[in-house]
Amino acid sequence: MKRTHTNGQLRIQDAGKKVNLIGWVAKRRNFGALVFIDLRDRTGITQLVFDEELSQQIKDVRNEYILEVEGVVLERKDKNAKLPTGDIEIKVENVTIVNSAETTPLIIADETDALEDTRLKYRYLDLRRPMMQEKLIMRHKITRSMREYLDNQNFIEIETPMLGRSTPEGARDYLVPSRVHPGSFYALPQSPQLYKQLLMVSGFERYYQFARCFRDEDLRADRQTDFTQVDLETSFLNDVEIQTMMEEMLQKLMKDVKGLDISVPFPRYTWEEAMNRYGSDKPDNRFGMELQEITSLFTNSEFKVFKDTISNEGSIKAIVVDEMAQMTRKEIDKITDLAKKHGAKGLVTLKYQEGTLAGSVVKFLSEQEQQALCETLSLKEEDLILIVSDEWEITCNVLGALRNHFGSVKGLKKTDEFSFLWVTDFPMFEYSKEDERWYAKHHPFTRPKDEDMQYIDTDPGKVHAIAYDIVLNGYELGGGSLRIYDGAMQDKMFEVLGFTEEKIQENFGWFVDALKYGTPPHGGLAFGLDRIAMILSESDSIRDVIAFPKNANAKCPMSDAPTPVDEAQLEELHLQIKK
Ligand code: AMO
Repeated sequence: MKRTHTNGQLRIQDAGKKVNLIGWVAKRRNFGALVFIDLRDRTGITQLVFDEELSQQIKDVRNEYILEVEGVVLERKDKNAKLPTGDIEIKVENVTIVNSAETTPLIIADETDALEDTRLKYRYLDLRRPMMQEKLIMRHKITRSMREYLDNQNFIEIETPMLGRSTPEGARDYLVPSRVHPGSFYALPQSPQLYKQLLMVSGFERYYQFARCFRDEDLRADRQTDFTQVDLETSFLNDVEIQTMMEEMLQKLMKDVKGLDISVPFPRYTWEEAMNRYGSDKPDNRFGMELQEITSLFTNSEFKVFKDTISNEGSIKAIVVDEMAQMTRKEIDKITDLAKKHGAKGLVTLKYQEGTLAGSVVKFLSEQEQQALCETLSLKEEDLILIVSDEWEITCNVLGALRNHFGSVKGLKKTDEFSFLWVTDFPMFEYSKEDERWYAKHHPFTRPKDEDMQYIDTDPGKVHAIAYDIVLNGYELGGGSLRIYDGAMQDKMFEVLGFTEEKIQENFGWFVDALKYGTPPHGGLAFGLDRIAMILSESDSIRDVIAFPKNANAKCPMSDAPTPVDEAQLEELHLQIKK
């Protein structure tokens, strides 16, 4: 037999045709002497009908057996409007049982109550579920669309090494011991950053790669140990030119994959504006509930918390959550805990009911301050007001987290709405009180703004980077920057980060040397492909769009990786495990 059609293909116009189909048994129903079987492949389902005689041949056939059938397409009496093939069925004339199947540990259907670890242990069956197939097929459409765009713009796809050198300043590396060089290790790439910059030095001008990246970080719903970047780099373009190209690529992507027309340019927020208005460097602007600055209302406040913040040059901000004044004490306590988890020392909660403010802090506020608050925040009946008073960044982060929380609680995050935006003008450095040193906020190869170079030695916190993140629905979809292309500036950068001349040479000499030989001005960006696929397929977790992901404990429940290895293997690699 030779397959003539797929199981998602046949329509009423095909009635009368003789066809051959192959696929998995998705459902079997016995109907008197007749047997009905839904035959499934990745394109869909077709109903088969077996008469009494043929039924005998398939009496043992159950779900997930593979059948090959020959038959005639007939118009169905009881049509199924939900299925594209629902107008027809196949009257089977010949059947071969290609393979049998044991009862599967999870039901092969979109709806499943299987635990995630069971789904991951039997991932090959989980991926047989039509919904999971759709997600991976969508991921393929995404890569195809992006590849097409980049090819048309004369980008060249170049692979870079998986086994590289461990360098400081990133996330934690995955290390690979060298057999040939006892005691030495390769590192798996966290991103192809330095290689792509070297490809610009080489003169390729436009590079891209669907690059596997590895970071030993704590996992979250939008993070994996190994993930994929759509990584690209260009020479001789400025930041806005790069962003414009990326907007075009995403516009094409949304059209190709979702059939949606999205408008460009995307809104742009400076980092400071994003923090001030949304309390996040990856704002979700599908809903309002913006942070409101209220420090100036309390310059003469008697309330100690506000007074302290003002004398420490901190910031007092509020968000107003409508229709939430009815929250119970217990619910408010939970919100306060959430605020504390994000770094707040406390949370002021007020309610606006029957034209007045209520809450434990009200007694510390003067009539005038209460009035000013009501006016500034344009309060309405049943509003809940959440106020944080702390260092500026803490105030922003905490209220941003609460805004996000209430955005979810109130169902304001519509998964079928796609809101792209840019965040620009990031600070070049951030200070770690713990380590008492500056870190690069993006990475140390990012070009600082020319006009801020005057502060590099005296006040690094004032230096902004020519760095930009692309954000979709509150997720950081990608990030990039213009790069340093001058060796002296690169050295300066490392110096601010606390590297000595020898340390720079030791760790980055191989890279910094390349900047001596005519390096073009260059810049680029990397998208998190898994995150794009997660959001476009409206999935809750990045794991849903990765064929064989790790679970939240960085384990693969299917293969059990990572596992201990044989003593002999360790020996060969000159390694010994500390007991
Ligand atoms: P960055 O570290 O911001 O930049 O990474 C770029 C994008 O990769 C995605 N991403 C991840 N996705 C899943 N799991 C992870 N653990 C993970 N970590 C990052 C995010 C992120 O926006 N070399 C620079 C880019 C550049 O400057 O060109 C870089 O790696 O979507």
